[in-house]
Amino acid sequence: MGKLIIRGQKRLKGEVTVSGAKNAAVAILPATILSEGSCIIENVPDILDITILKNILTNLGAKIENLNSSTIKVDVSNVSSYVATDSQISKLRASYYLMGALLGKFKRAVVTFPGGCDFGVRPIDQHIKGFEALGAKVDIEHGKVIIAANRLVGAPIYLDVVSVGATINIMLAAVKAEGITTIENAAKEPHIVDLANFLNAMGADIKGAGTDVIKIRGVKELKGGHTYMIIPDQIEAGTFMIAAVATRGDVLVKNIIPKHMESLTAKLQEMNVKVEEFDDSIRVTGRDKIQKVNIKTLPYPGFPTDLQPPSTVLLCRAEGTSTITEGVWDNRFQYIDELKRMGANIKVEGRMAVIEGAVRLSGAPIRATDLRAGAAMVIAGMMAHGETTVSNIECIDRGYEKLEEKLRNLGADIRRVTNEKSKNR
Ligand code: EPZ
Repeated sequence: MGKLIIRGQKRLKGEVTVSGAKNAAVAILPATILSEGSCIIENVPDILDITILKNILTNLGAKIENLNSSTIKVDVSNVSSYVATDSQISKLRASYYLMGALLGKFKRAVVTFPGGCDFGVRPIDQHIKGFEALGAKVDIEHGKVIIAANRLVGAPIYLDVVSVGATINIMLAAVKAEGITTIENAAKEPHIVDLANFLNAMGADIKGAGTDVIKIRGVKELKGGHTYMIIPDQIEAGTFMIAAVATRGDVLVKNIIPKHMESLTAKLQEMNVKVEEFDDSIRVTGRDKIQKVNIKTLPYPGFPTDLQPPSTVLLCRAEGTSTITEGVWDNRFQYIDELKRMGANIKVEGRMAVIEGAVRLSGAPIRATDLRAGAAMVIAGMMAHGETTVSNIECIDRGYEKLEEKLRNLGADIRRVTNEKSKNR
């Protein structure tokens, strides 16, 4: 079990390049199953979730070649099974995209129930509602989701909650269905647009991705043979922007789409931080004093829930009392107990965290409770006086490519210890 050891109070300075978007890549990889033949995917992040997905696809019969550190060739000609019950499936949430992809390809899917970060209940009722609307029968037995259809026929589907996963899964299942599927109240996240662009490049007919109504006209076949580049990771970019402010640093975050960062940029400016936008990069210059703000997380284009934990950490150094209201997940404040060990003064009232600012954090042994909370703990360690040890860092590796290496290049004092036996925190 690895740990990160951080000596805080170093200002981050320099340039950092953001990797490809995790949440786009974890949808696009399963989507390759729908194609005939092979395709090349560029800007694939080198993270644990992708390694696991590649293993799962390989076990289904896909041939995956690493062309370079961020480019892969996926050949699905030999994928002939609709049963994905690999023990690795329960390790990540995004394995639920195998349901939509296998159903779309074979009109059948048997997939182990997905895992992923724990934010309270993570239902898949809207995914199931979508599959059923297309004509499939869905049963859950012995920890597996069993889906079968004689025909998949396009239909209008209204999502009761704005769900990224359900929007993507329905797109995957409907892309080769007969007729037209309309998803209303669809999620609008950048990775939904990226998946639609990927599928359209293979010959799909998807319109409206990025708006709340997506129209999918089913096609008979999706061709392989093309090269597609995944968009930059909005959340990794935001994590570096927040880290720059947290450490009163000056960082140019490169390979990003500034439009995707607007909700964060607006909040940082409200805190009185200097943010300069360029074509595909943003420079963030921290200040000694930042102002309190109130944030509410919402589906895109609202403030991303995945940047909620790093933002809470940042607001520990704002002047005055800030609030963060979690508008997406029921229970995404588990990490706050860890921050309290460092001296943070935060009260959680239901879905709202009330953060007292101008607090001096002091280094402590803390634990990454999930992926984004893990990144937040690293930022807390970089803000704190003294040494912080972050344990359970495997969950950070799930979604951040070489986080400590990128931070070290910016001047952070951070190192990984991998072979310590100690189970203590
Ligand atoms: C995706 O999760 C992301 N994961 C999450 O990022 C992210 O926090 C979330 O979207 C919101 O942006 C991936 O893309 C792999 P949802 P997802 O379905 O798709 C409720 C990270 O750190 N809901 O949009 O699982 C649900 O309970 C991860 O990268 C239903 O009620 O999220 C939640 O309250 C963590 N029924 C809300 O909708 C359903 O059938 C949004 O969930 C589905 C969801």
